[in-house]
Amino acid sequence: MSNNLSETIKRVIANEELSDESDVRAATAPFQAEFPYEREEEAQVTRREFCNFLGLTSAALFVGAAGFAAKAALDARKSESLAAARIDGAELLAPNSSLNFSYPTERESAILVRTADGAYHAYGQKCTHLSCPVYYSRDHQRLECPCHEGAFDAATGNVLYGPPPRALDAVEVETRDGQIWAIGRSTSAPGSGG
Ligand code: FES
Repeated sequence: MSNNLSETIKRVIANEELSDESDVRAATAPFQAEFPYEREEEAQVTRREFCNFLGLTSAALFVGAAGFAAKAALDARKSESLAAARIDGAELLAPNSSLNFSYPTERESAILVRTADGAYHAYGQKCTHLSCPVYYSRDHQRLECPCHEGAFDAATGNVLYGPPPRALDAVEVETRDGQIWAIGRSTSAPGSGG
């Protein structure tokens, strides 16, 4: 692992503020270089795998797959109740903007988004692909990951495109006396977020 990559991971673990696009892109450039993602290559592998799959599977496997799909749907989101924490400054956040905070511990970076309609949504800042920090793009009104150009819906955390296998971890928020509090966290199952 190169020194640059180690440094990037240390910054993410240390929960340095990586809130806007330029900060995140600067911090993750070495990561992107070490773990390149080629959409075309992946598409070719996926097509090859799909042909093999068609040739080798039987009806029994389809029945088994249906069972797994049903279980995945049941487990789609696992919620955790955690101690509530007020998000400083959230009530002053303008629509179509974001701020970073820590939740549920000081070492876990999260991002609060206030969408253009004024609603609040919060997520863990780690991309579900290879853990690069995501940022909120005001121009595109979505969360973006600069490492391999993944993107997530700002209102749901679901994958819009790119390699992430599942939705962002959601931080549940609620309004108490005009202030915004984080009150829990939920994680989606692979394949359920897009
Ligand atoms: S780390 Fe690869 S798309 Fe986010």
